Amino acid sequence: MKTIAVLFGGRSTEHDVSIVTALGSIIKPLELTKQYKVEAVYIAKDGAWYWDEKLKDISLFSSGGIKEWLHRAHPASVQFDGGLTLVKASGIAGRKTSRKIDIAFPAMHGTYGEDGSLMGLLRLANIPFVGCDMDASVLSMDKVLAKLVAQAHGVPTSPMCFANKTDFERNPRTLADECEKKLKYPLFVKPAHLGSSIAITRVVNRKELESALEVAFHYDDKVLAEEAIGNLKEVTLPILGNDEPRPALLESPMTKPEEFFDFETKYMQGGKKGAGKGTKGSQGYSEVPADLPKDLYAKAEKIGLDVYRLLGCAGTARVDMLIDTKTGKVFFNEVNPLPGSLYAHNWNKAGVSGTELVQTLIRLAEERWQAVRQQNTVFSTNYLQQF
Ligand SMILES: Nc1ncnc2c1ncn2[C@@H]1O[C@H](COP(=O)(O)OP(=O)(O)O)[C@@H](O)[C@H]1O
Ligand SMILES: [Mg+2]
Repeated sequence: MKTIAVLFGGRSTEHDVSIVTALGSIIKPLELTKQYKVEAVYIAKDGAWYWDEKLKDISLFSSGGIKEWLHRAHPASVQFDGGLTLVKASGIAGRKTSRKIDIAFPAMHGTYGEDGSLMGLLRLANIPFVGCDMDASVLSMDKVLAKLVAQAHGVPTSPMCFANKTDFERNPRTLADECEKKLKYPLFVKPAHLGSSIAITRVVNRKELESALEVAFHYDDKVLAEEAIGNLKEVTLPILGNDEPRPALLESPMTKPEEFFDFETKYMQGGKKGAGKGTKGSQGYSEVPADLPKDLYAKAEKIGLDVYRLLGCAGTARVDMLIDTKTGKVFFNEVNPLPGSLYAHNWNKAGVSGTELVQTLIRLAEERWQAVRQQNTVFSTNYLQQF
């Protein structure tokens, strides 16, 4: 039986969301299959790693009991031994328990997880892991880079300006000047690397633009401003696969466009705003499949799949698009390499159960691993003999 380590928590603003993804949508269905030994590896907010059966219990987190538990627990360590082995104190004085990991299943949203950091570590550790690899994760978690790659291949994106913090601090007016020259209000100002709408502001004049840029640079070292898409319908497309990605259903959040999708709407209100209609997903109520004319649906689906391939996504990701319903134009917005709760509610509607979803992801991880292993990384030379 293969050992799957599910890694969750982490040093990110999406720490809590990650716990729900890991416990509800990954560990539970993996255990239901009875085909794997599942290890829960929790990374606390201070960055320490813990490995314990008790960490599979959501009530430990929802009750707040985790604080006390962490106080008593010993952090685990990981051993790089040609693979990756979890090690912790066994409870018997001086003894250690260890377990070799066969496959890692990252369930960490945001910084140090979804942004490629964890993937880099797993690559060094030389083990297969689920989901996007490091390069696709890095590109996806940088809104500027993702849009530039898409643009370079002719995928429509909302026109933007961007700058890094050093340049902004040196000359704070340059970016605002450039925005006013190149773009038309209203604009959206966004930190390049954050999620959950943190520090994102819609602005309609110079004064608002300047203060929104200040705020965004407070959170990130790269910031972009882009034109707001009018007559907006947002859609998102979960995708599964390596070389032959398959789409789930286009999904549209049920919010009014003027109250743009913020953390509160996404996670805190249980989807109250759209209650009564639609599907209750990981981020409130939504329309699945999105109610769109057939040709517009096909256009958005194609853009989603194109971006998935262009950024080199693997395993799974979710591509967000903004549609101007009046002009019928579809703009690529961003990619989420680790969709909250894996977007299992959407896959369910598309005919893939929660257990099938995690099993497919494990299979895709193994397939990619086999392909990577076939690449030659050793190159013999006589270089050392001259010394
Ligand atoms: N160019 C835009 N036009 C209209 N609405 C936008 C635009 N960019 C972002 N938004 C709104 O802001 C929300 C958050 O922006 P997004 O780029 O998706 O960042 P996040 O990573 O926080 O989800 C979107 O879901 C959408 O409602
Ligand atoms: Mg978004």
